[in-house]
Amino acid sequence: MLVNNAGILYDTWQRPLTADLDVVREALETNAFGAWRTSRALVPLMRRGGYGRIVNVSSGAGSLSSMGASTPAYNVSKVALNALTRMLGAELRGTGILVNAVDPGWTATDMGGRGGRSVEDGARGVIWAATLPEDGPTGGFFYDGEPEAW
Ligand SMILES: NC(=O)c1ccc[n+]([C@@H]2O[C@H](COP(=O)([O-])OP(=O)(O)OC[C@H]3O[C@@H](n4cnc5c(N)ncnc54)[C@H](OP(=O)(O)O)[C@@H]3O)[C@@H](O)[C@H]2O)c1
Repeated sequence: MLVNNAGILYDTWQRPLTADLDVVREALETNAFGAWRTSRALVPLMRRGGYGRIVNVSSGAGSLSSMGASTPAYNVSKVALNALTRMLGAELRGTGILVNAVDPGWTATDMGGRGGRSVEDGARGVIWAATLPEDGPTGGFFYDGEPEAW
């Protein structure tokens, strides 16, 4: 099981027209390329075992259908992570490796601050995706085990 959880730069201070593109690049580096690199590193091992679960911890901020003008660096990085999820899901179909994106929801962590749901609640959907049975979904985007709009 690979849980790509590392995430940075919830850039509430930026808007797309004035955003510092170096900050956007930095967000992409960790939030999207980080997950891409760790997946590349571990898929060969998963293939050998004929089993794998990759969980990309995404966000509602990566949902195009509800996207506004806030947090531009974070948004594009999570959209890219969702695209990676679709692509890897397709490339690995039939190998025993399931790849899904999970939105933990607003969670009371260092990033989320106070007011969000508990870490236990936020983690539940991640654990669900990490422990899917063989016939579970792949290439999807989920919140608490239910499909979320792309
Ligand atoms: N909290 C929310 O409301 C919320 C909502 C939706 C989605 N998410 C997503 O949930 C995931 C976890 O977020 P969180 O709320 O737990 O954030 P957090 O409290 O800021 O924690 C982020 C974690 O990522 C690690 N990290 C950052 N950059 C890294 C790198 N380059 N390599 C390795 N580790 C790195 C940090 O490690 P260090 O402490 O060592 O820097 C930290 O442990 C993220 O992907 C975030 O986008 C969170």
